[in-house]
Amino acid sequence: LMSILPLHVDDFEVRSPNVTYSDDFIEASYQYHTTEILKEGKKTVAVPKCVEYQFRTERKKPKLGLMLVGWGGNNGSTTTAGILANKMGMTWMTKNGEKKANYFGSLTQASTCRLGGHGPNCVDTYVPFSSLLPMVHPNDLVVGGWDISSMNLADAMARAKVLDYTLQQQLAPHMKHLVPLPSIYYPDFIAANQTDRADNIIPGQDKKAHLEHIRNDIREFKKKNGLDKVIVLWTGNTERFSSVQSGVNDTSDNLLAAIEANEAEVSPSTIFAVASILEGSIYINGSPQNTFVPGVIQLAEQHDVMIGGDDFKSGQTKMKSVMVDFLVSAGIKPTAIVSYNHLGNNDGKNLSAPQTFRSKEISKSNVVDDMVNSNSIMYKPREHPDHVVVIKYVPTVADSKRAMDEYTSEIFMGGTNTIVMHNTCEDSLLATPLILDLAILADMTSRIKYKRADMTEWSSFHPIMSILSYLIKAPLVPPGAPIVNALFKQRACIENIFRACVGLPADNHMLLEHKRG
Ligand code: NAI
Repeated sequence: LMSILPLHVDDFEVRSPNVTYSDDFIEASYQYHTTEILKEGKKTVAVPKCVEYQFRTERKKPKLGLMLVGWGGNNGSTTTAGILANKMGMTWMTKNGEKKANYFGSLTQASTCRLGGHGPNCVDTYVPFSSLLPMVHPNDLVVGGWDISSMNLADAMARAKVLDYTLQQQLAPHMKHLVPLPSIYYPDFIAANQTDRADNIIPGQDKKAHLEHIRNDIREFKKKNGLDKVIVLWTGNTERFSSVQSGVNDTSDNLLAAIEANEAEVSPSTIFAVASILEGSIYINGSPQNTFVPGVIQLAEQHDVMIGGDDFKSGQTKMKSVMVDFLVSAGIKPTAIVSYNHLGNNDGKNLSAPQTFRSKEISKSNVVDDMVNSNSIMYKPREHPDHVVVIKYVPTVADSKRAMDEYTSEIFMGGTNTIVMHNTCEDSLLATPLILDLAILADMTSRIKYKRADMTEWSSFHPIMSILSYLIKAPLVPPGAPIVNALFKQRACIENIFRACVGLPADNHMLLEHKRG
């Protein structure tokens, strides 16, 4: 029997009495179906609920700037190179033949969504993820940023050893003139082994002056490039955690006063986040450190500026958020998850210091909690699989990070199942598409407004963008919201919210049309 191939279309328009397209907006009314749980004595009652939402999405794509903190690093240089290579449609030769620039690994650019069924046989019809809503294309991003290393982007690309040499040769003339802006360097926050690199530093020790300097950089970048909007994204070295202290960084007022008073515990990344928020620019944290101390979160809420973080979810953790979800939802009980990493890039070098390693260890450690906590048949309250993370610096493997994981699970009748995995990651090639998705999705999310039946005014989503969780190792969510780590739930969240914005139902995978009999 021949299976029917799906249909692929580039774009679509919704026809529905609930959806209107104007020049500026797509407006949709949407029935949000949920289940409310009531506890009545010993009895639990589930009540289906339906709440009416209106969504209004801005259609105009802004001219979008992306300022990277750590622009000259492996991720920063690869992001810049990747966009240029795609823009210019570059091809290059390798020992495996000709390669062509692409955006593989990007949710928005290289994945598709099932739009619906076509014809009497309801043939699956797919669209590019990017066509769900009017998203900015990565080729149109204007990229710039800061680095404590003054190396130009062409040399930084060579230093990173990420891209094929013949591609680097083609790109170098287009990147030589790109030089990162000087940045904030407080040596105490990153490993001592980074000192050699730090030759591009904003002078002085005055944190308030540093804050103003960064704010001015954002304004200037926006003006110089005629941008509608700038997103600032930290892809700099992993910092140590800063200690959260009352009177220092616990409230927005205290934090601003602490910057004035040159408090030691205010990290470079926190200054970047504050600068960004005060300039009305979305700030995203791609590293594990606690940039978002309570004072920063409060500041973002007060200014209604969106923030997202922490730590890109590129390789090992992404795999973990699939594996553990599969195991637990299959009724198999993981009892030990042991993860070894070795990597030889500058990220690995920086993580070889105990304090920066600790930041990474923390961000990698909670990623299975939601899945384990969802099952009380296999796990007692507070019972948890053993979970250990080891990271070692091995210069030889450079950016080709190795991640080795062992999952031990208890199965039927006291049996044991062990899965061992070896993941050769090519770290920056996995992380770069996430940087692009984070920028594109953050901008898209900030252009959506909603109104629930009980609201009179349009509102944006909460400044803490939990919708970015798919791309993030330790997702930051609004107070009281559940943290979701399971990868496919995270993906479905973005897809279904974007579908709702054009008045389409969530994809429920029921395929009732095909269940005859
Ligand atoms: P990298 O070490 O090559 O690049 C970091 C850059 O930041 C360096 O060029 C450094 O000079 C610069 N830098 C350090 N402190 C700075 C400051 N205060 N201001 C401006 N620039 C500063 O590292 P890579 O591989 O690009 O990774 C960047 C970050 O992303 C790291 O924190 C890493 O842990 C995180 N990350 C990376 C992933 C990946 O590559 N797959 C996955 C998850 C997180």
